[in-house]
Amino acid sequence: MKISVKTKGKLSDNRAVVVWLGEEGKSGLFFKQLPADLKRSVAPLIEKKRFSGKAGSAFLQGTGAGWLVLTGIGKEKKLCLNRLRKSGAVAARTALAARLLELAVPVPSVPKATVEQTAQAVVEGVWLGTYHFDRKGTKSKEETGLKELELTVSAAPAVSAAQKGARQGKILCESVCLARDLGNAPSNEMTPARLAQAAQKAGREAGFRVQVWGPAEIAKRKMGALMGVARGSREPARFIRMEYVGPRSAGRKPLLLVGKGITFDSGGISIKPSNKMEEMKFDMCGAAAVIGAMRAIAMLKLPARVVGLAPATENLPGGSAQKPGDIVRAMNGKTIEVINTDAEGRLILADALSYAQTLKPAAIVDLATLTGACVVALGDQAAGLMGNDERLLEQVKQAGSRSGDKVWPLPLWKAHTDAVRSQVADVKNVGNGKAGTITAAAFLKEFVGEFPWAHLDIAGTAWADGTCGYQVKGGTGFGVRLLVEWVKGWR
Ligand code: BES
Ligand code: MN
Ligand code: ZN
Repeated sequence: MKISVKTKGKLSDNRAVVVWLGEEGKSGLFFKQLPADLKRSVAPLIEKKRFSGKAGSAFLQGTGAGWLVLTGIGKEKKLCLNRLRKSGAVAARTALAARLLELAVPVPSVPKATVEQTAQAVVEGVWLGTYHFDRKGTKSKEETGLKELELTVSAAPAVSAAQKGARQGKILCESVCLARDLGNAPSNEMTPARLAQAAQKAGREAGFRVQVWGPAEIAKRKMGALMGVARGSREPARFIRMEYVGPRSAGRKPLLLVGKGITFDSGGISIKPSNKMEEMKFDMCGAAAVIGAMRAIAMLKLPARVVGLAPATENLPGGSAQKPGDIVRAMNGKTIEVINTDAEGRLILADALSYAQTLKPAAIVDLATLTGACVVALGDQAAGLMGNDERLLEQVKQAGSRSGDKVWPLPLWKAHTDAVRSQVADVKNVGNGKAGTITAAAFLKEFVGEFPWAHLDIAGTAWADGTCGYQVKGGTGFGVRLLVEWVKGWR
């Protein structure tokens, strides 16, 4: 999609021009600020109640000169960047449904937001809301996406700010869509080796270093918990290490991003029921978010030092699979009793977090599709947030709300740690059947030492069941924008 910034959006037969309108209708500012010709086209539609201005509504209207997409933003005073993203997505899909492949969108004024931020949010909404995973059929591929997006600003001085926002939005959206593609790819394609190749490709493209370790190097580093999970599969495991050193950042302690990379989770010997098991190809979305974020951070040349880690393996019940009751030893020396082989994410993260400690990080953020309990607790609107450092947790929460990747805190107390103590090893990989999301985090806490650490359980947010706002059915790329925003704001 080509993006440009202009001071005036022209009407024509093969393009759609977005008209933002509030619930206030004709008495609202958005209507009052329209040019006279648009006012004339729009007024009757409001009068006849064809269009309400409700957030998430859109209406395609032809005029003699071209096409308008009336797009509701709800109460004008309540407009925020996230609502704008969602409305932008609805507008873009409305145009696309009518095969209008060029879209002109005015950058509206949003309370407390700059032109740069607003332009970026429009790009995010339009781009992410019209994403399609290339379907693999026998028919030849048809053009599915928008071809051109033209942002329009009211006056010349705003052009460069809008351009800057558009450029950042583009980089972010490409990176989010990379993460979506990785999550949507079937597991026979997206094996641990292929996931590692995708990281290498992103590294070449964006300019960060990627190292990939196979089974021998994983064994040499004594990552026994990752090896335990990998035993059940013929597909060899990978440990992916990415490193980006930004301007003036060489001597700094790194920020660590860690993502769960289970390319398929059958549950292992503790096998899952077959209903919806196909969705478990998405169990590498934490890793995908880290790869996507590394790409964006490097392309934006953020002044930071960032290391991304992604342990990657399948979780299958092969003949040499680990079994319930087995005891494995993680890289930091701690022993783990494997009660349930389906609690595999925390096992591979145990080694990745142990390794992270050896880099003396300034902070660690991990993302994982870790527990079904988190889907029950928070649904698909927010990721669970837990950790050991209030300041870091607050930063991550703020980055979440600015970016639109929402997170919500859950407690993490000593009682939760007690629930993962084992009789026969240092820890066990399941709790006591209560607060499953939190006991999973309590388990991870055993592997981060004293370093500031935040854990995001993205089990509910990494996958969308349907198209809504700027999410489309399938992988969401959740976490990419949050991580970039967090690294941007880090001091
Ligand atoms: N990848 C799953 C978590 C999951 C389940 C994500 C459903 C999205 C939807 C994870 O590996 C898992 O199986 N967790 C178990 C843990 C349990 C055995 C303690 C779970 O949540 O059931
Ligand atoms: Mn599992
Ligand atoms: Zn899993």
